[in-house]
Amino acid sequence: MKPSTSMSERMTGKDSNHLPAYWDARYAEDGFAYGTEPNDFLVSVTPQLSVGDALCLCEGEGRNATFLAQRGFRPVAIDFSQVALDKASALAAQRGITLPTQRADLEGFDPGLAKWDLVTMIFGQPELKIRRALYARIAACLRPGGAFVLETKTQEGASADSRYPDAATLCAELQGLDFVIARDGERLLKEGRYHDGAQRTAQILAFKR
Ligand SMILES: C[S@@+](CC[C@H](N)C(=O)[O-])C[C@H]1O[C@@H](n2cnc3c(N)ncnc32)[C@H](O)[C@@H]1O
Repeated sequence: MKPSTSMSERMTGKDSNHLPAYWDARYAEDGFAYGTEPNDFLVSVTPQLSVGDALCLCEGEGRNATFLAQRGFRPVAIDFSQVALDKASALAAQRGITLPTQRADLEGFDPGLAKWDLVTMIFGQPELKIRRALYARIAACLRPGGAFVLETKTQEGASADSRYPDAATLCAELQGLDFVIARDGERLLKEGRYHDGAQRTAQILAFKR
């Protein structure tokens, strides 16, 4: 994947975690950065989801997509780090699953129309303009009854323009969905060596009308 013009622009920014190279380096380390167990919020809402086609955005090393596949979903793992996707494929293979992956930058990403029964975004924290453009398309890419599941880092008191906004801000960007869970809270993360400790997060479970 060649850097897009906009990705080149992002290279001049000060937050290097906007760039695939940052994530490739993290995922090139031994082991799994966020562990191999699925995110516990995703696990907790899975009984409320209709099994079907699942788009796993910012999927990283595949812990959530492989969990969904083991529950009967047909996940596709999207990430702009090829190192992550290679590890996701390896994790899936260990579990006897073939996991379709797609290396893609969420900037300009087209999730399609009425294509998915589930979209997940677990600790993907895209830049503001990428997030807003993507979230404006989530309702349209879901089939009726389809679900959007999100957990993301938040900062208390962050503005709507922040990369780490609260659940209310995210809900406002996700027009066309019915929200069953939309909450902020401090919690203990135990997800590999990079998610280990107290963290304020937003959690969202929403359905397409
Ligand atoms: C904190 S990690 C979370 C990984 C995974 N969802 C998990 O919880 O184990 C964030 C992921 O988002 C991906 N990412 C960040 N910005 C992206 C973008 N613009 N397009 C595609 N992937 C992106 C990174 O490569 C990384 O895998």
